[in-house]
Amino acid sequence: MSTTSIDRGTPYSEPGSLGLSLLHDPIRNKGTAYTVQQRRELGIEGLLPPAVESLERQVDRVLQQLDGKTDDLDKYSYLTDLMDRNETVFYKTVMSDPKRFVPILYDPTVADACQTFGNIYRRAHGMYITRDMKGRIAEVLKHWPEPDVRFICVSTGGRILGLGDIGANGMGIPIGKLQLYTACAAVPPHYMLPILLDIGTSNEALRADPLYMGSREPQLSEQALDELTQEFIDAVQEVFPACCVHFEDWKGTDAIRMLERYRDKILCYNDDIQGTAAIALAGIAAALNTKGGKLKDQRIQFFGAGSAAIGIAGLVVKEMQTQGLTFDEARSRISMFDINGLIEPSRTDLSEAQKVYAHSVAPTQSLLAGIQDFKPTILIGVSTHGGAFDKHIIEAMTHLNEVPIIFALSNPTRKAECTAEQAYSWSKGKALFAAGVQFPDVVLGGKTYRPGQANNFYIYPAAGLATYAARPTRLTDECFIVAAHAIADQIGLALQAKGMLYPSQDDILETEVTTAVRVAQYMFDAGLAQATRPSDIRSWIENMLYKPQY
Ligand code: NAI
Repeated sequence: MSTTSIDRGTPYSEPGSLGLSLLHDPIRNKGTAYTVQQRRELGIEGLLPPAVESLERQVDRVLQQLDGKTDDLDKYSYLTDLMDRNETVFYKTVMSDPKRFVPILYDPTVADACQTFGNIYRRAHGMYITRDMKGRIAEVLKHWPEPDVRFICVSTGGRILGLGDIGANGMGIPIGKLQLYTACAAVPPHYMLPILLDIGTSNEALRADPLYMGSREPQLSEQALDELTQEFIDAVQEVFPACCVHFEDWKGTDAIRMLERYRDKILCYNDDIQGTAAIALAGIAAALNTKGGKLKDQRIQFFGAGSAAIGIAGLVVKEMQTQGLTFDEARSRISMFDINGLIEPSRTDLSEAQKVYAHSVAPTQSLLAGIQDFKPTILIGVSTHGGAFDKHIIEAMTHLNEVPIIFALSNPTRKAECTAEQAYSWSKGKALFAAGVQFPDVVLGGKTYRPGQANNFYIYPAAGLATYAARPTRLTDECFIVAAHAIADQIGLALQAKGMLYPSQDDILETEVTTAVRVAQYMFDAGLAQATRPSDIRSWIENMLYKPQY
């Protein structure tokens, strides 16, 4: 077979190669929006179709092309390519309708994207840190082209969205999470750095997959992981001193350990723990606004005792204490089940965090028996066990409570502990219900119920925006409690009447900014903020919002 090599020589004059490099730089590329004059000056005349288009026209074309795609994973890939070509058009598109695009950029589509990451991969959007870089991580971080990084979202891929350990394919998560800071809360995108801490994987199928791009070694031991993470954290402090580290989708026990280790030492948070806790607390606060009652008088049964449950319980206990309970009184109002049954003292497999909720009761594997014994007012599913809340469970909750509060937070959809339809119909329309995924409205007895989605995107982009603006030294639990109440307080009476526990997704930016203002205010009041306090926090934050434009 003969090959033809084309000698391109050096066809580009200096201005031309600058223009070409602009066309290939997604951050600066304007594509067809370059004017005739600019095209001449940059030496890219003829390299673009003749039409000179506005940003709005470019977005119209993107929307039309997206409309032609029926499969969400295709839309995800298309948007990923768009981000590679022109970041301004990408953000202009997704910020035009976050309600429509968040489920494509993030959950549920990102779950499919992660599972097929090796197949749909085209180009790296973040950094991979591996065990082989030990001793050189700071040096490696300096390869990132942006010197001022304010948010690193770092995952080990160890527990992705209830999909388990998917190793380096989990990179879709930090990418998607950071995109939502911008898509939902208009935090400027160039301060973001997604990182996959590739610690190996226990997923045999992945290790055998020829297209898998991560390390094929088994996961690091706990001690080796801790050492690698310590070096990583130190390196981030050295290379990006203003950076907030957002931990995402680490294996449950790793997640809790890292948060405990670093929360008082550096600016960091764990969205699976604190973001989830805050969004659950927001839902509980909204439900109590609707049905009446105080948090300190509730009894909460968790199904699932992993990082989400531990996080929610911790924040609930903190808030109950602010309402006057002692720590022991507060923790006695919380009970948990995990895969091995009720958390109780005879169990020998409990983590320190779980032992807090081990009350002196008889062991049982039966959630129904547990509910009948503990008599919860609130039931929260964070188990990844799809369908676990069957008719008997919902009926038991309805028997115990005039208005049971039931959250089925596991995702993706097939892992939800029950559907909205099941919760409303089995409780005869009495339940106040929220899920981790967006279920469609349910019509029952002529009434329309609108199930809330306990989506962390209400919380963490807002906390991020407040952090970007106020530059706090720490992100404390109180910041997340403030965010939770700011969300709950934005649900008007009309939404309450439909059983909504979260604000409408129609104007996410407004919800996020309002929440960020309350959180930033708290950061100033609590002495956490390093920025100078402005006289009007709202307009100060509004002036910092990213606007996609040329
Ligand atoms: P995790 O892996 O840390 O914990 C899972 C827990 O469920 C463990 O305690 C495990 O023992 C228990 N479990 C597993 N199978 C069970 C079974 N058959 N019966 C009873 N318990 C069982 O996971 P994490 O981070 O706590 O997340 C749990 C679920 O919650 C995931 O599906 C995740 O996607 C979802 N989640 C939803 C959020 C939201 O809606 N905003 C936020 C964070 C997590």
